[in-house]
Amino acid sequence: MSLQQLYAPIAADMQAVDAVIRQRLHSDVVLIRQVAEYIVQSGGKRLRPALVLFSACALGYQGRHHHELAAVVEFIHTATLLHDDVVDESELRRGNRTANALFGNGASVLVGDFLYTRAFQMMVGVDNMRVMQVLADATNVIAEGEVLQLLNCHNADVEIEDYLRVIRYKTAKLFEAATRLGAILGGAERGLEEKLAAFGMHLGTAFQLIDDVLDYSSDEAATGKHLGDDLAEGKPTLPLIHVMKQGSAEQATIVRSAIENGGRDDFQRVLHAIRETGALDETRRYARAEAARASAALDALPSSIFKDTLLQLSDFAVERNY
Ligand code: IPE
Ligand code: IPE
Ligand code: MG
Ligand code: MG
Repeated sequence: MSLQQLYAPIAADMQAVDAVIRQRLHSDVVLIRQVAEYIVQSGGKRLRPALVLFSACALGYQGRHHHELAAVVEFIHTATLLHDDVVDESELRRGNRTANALFGNGASVLVGDFLYTRAFQMMVGVDNMRVMQVLADATNVIAEGEVLQLLNCHNADVEIEDYLRVIRYKTAKLFEAATRLGAILGGAERGLEEKLAAFGMHLGTAFQLIDDVLDYSSDEAATGKHLGDDLAEGKPTLPLIHVMKQGSAEQATIVRSAIENGGRDDFQRVLHAIRETGALDETRRYARAEAARASAALDALPSSIFKDTLLQLSDFAVERNY
């Protein structure tokens, strides 16, 4: 099933979120409007806002704050993308040139700051201390994750645990915040809130594991991103760690020196080693295990179309090719 079809139970809410996003992008500063609208209008899967909505709806939430918080989460995500593409020196995002490629690094960083701070203005408007706590913690952990990753670049001795920590921080934390916010709005008692948060965390971990697979295996028409960006930055992601642990001495050396040097010159040789050692299948196995943990966390959630879709989204995170 396509994401569009999966979102059917929240279609009206997603439209409402879209309206909030467009309205809150406004600024009198023309460059802000240009850059922010450029990245937002290029689309994206809108997975994190959908998680806020599904989580809230699964608990029977009837208010309107979920639209605002879904938009907040998408703004934070978009801000991290603007910053991430500068750091990663990426040139393609959502099938278009990245904002940094088009408007420059400075504009991307500063408009990312605009989106972060706009998200905080909106969050304060919801006037709920727990909500503010969750989002303040999440944004802080995301920043830690990105910095940790920066420190790990060009380091071929990074262990699987170090890698998993980076992806939990930089990616899974926002997924966790999304489902937790839905739970808080829906008035879940603490135990159920933790379960929904765990669902988001495991789902987000699976999602990033597959993102790291797609960086070596997808095609750019599907992902809208350039292949090989991770290797170019010398990022020790799980597919590469697997080759160094399970491959021959020669395969390990190829990958080690590619991580240490970065760039794209070794891409074909690394790809070959990845294929021969089954490193992508191994990474997919990790993702499947995370998705299974995500699904198990929903056991206590009452049955509904929203719960069913959350479960389907955990499959999507693993099976996706974009
Ligand atoms: C990209 O996230 C960044 C990662 C955490 C891998 P998405 O793949 O959700 O990006 P969009 O919003 O759909 O473009
Ligand atoms: C996700 O990591 C970045 C953030 C969570 C900000 P990646 O660097 O792998 O994401 P893409 O591949 O550029 O979308
Ligand atoms: Mg990146
Ligand atoms: Mg990536």
